[in-house]
Amino acid sequence: MAGQEISKEEALSRHGYRHACHIMLYADTNAKLFGKIPIKHIVLMQMRFDGLLGFPGGLVNPSEESLESGLSRELGEEIGAAIPVSPEDHLSSCFAPSTPHLITHFYTKKMKEGELREVEKAAVMTAADHGLEVMGMVRVPLYFLKNGGGFPAFLSHSFISNSRSQLLSALGVLGLVSQDDLRAAVARADKMRH
Ligand code: GTP
Ligand code: MN
Ligand code: MN
Ligand code: MN
Ligand code: MN
Ligand code: MN
Repeated sequence: MAGQEISKEEALSRHGYRHACHIMLYADTNAKLFGKIPIKHIVLMQMRFDGLLGFPGGLVNPSEESLESGLSRELGEEIGAAIPVSPEDHLSSCFAPSTPHLITHFYTKKMKEGELREVEKAAVMTAADHGLEVMGMVRVPLYFLKNGGGFPAFLSHSFISNSRSQLLSALGVLGLVSQDDLRAAVARADKMRH
């Protein structure tokens, strides 16, 4: 599910639409799985209360707050740290594929590995929504193991709205995963889905 793209400015000028803002927090890492498989990048998603994977963030009312400050407020609730978000962190906006009158805005923000670890700690220790709207933060495995393990298996899970497309496009645009690997992972994941 991709959803039709729209510019942020045009989205904000539409009447009768609700706005949701979500963000992909990520960092580079030298860590190696089993001491040999490079992790390369830490990419955070969350297991939501409804059992679906998605990004931290939520509904923002643009008549009360900017998209970025609303997203920062949601991060305070869901991960216990109101990380500042700037307009430059915006990646794309699009109509939600299955929810009428909803526009989803997507942001990405690169952090240091240590900062991301602090985010993970706060998500458990201080986030008001931990165990309620958010069952836990998860790191996305970006490597390929035998039999589809790793990235393809992750992509075979169920995702809220167009968050799976948001993940794939961000990984491509930011150059965290090559286009060839993205295509291979999606093809493998589609075979594993049941
Ligand atoms: P409340 O605090 O209960 O109001 O929820 P929220 O404000 O945190 O809203 P939520 O994060 O659930 O997002 C609002 C709507 O956006 C959801 O009902 C989904 O349709 C959609 N949504 C949720 N997560 C994502 C995501 O990661 N990506 C995209 N594209 N849409 C999402
Ligand atoms: Mn909310
Ligand atoms: Mn949310
Ligand atoms: Mn929320
Ligand atoms: Mn909700
Ligand atoms: Mn809430």
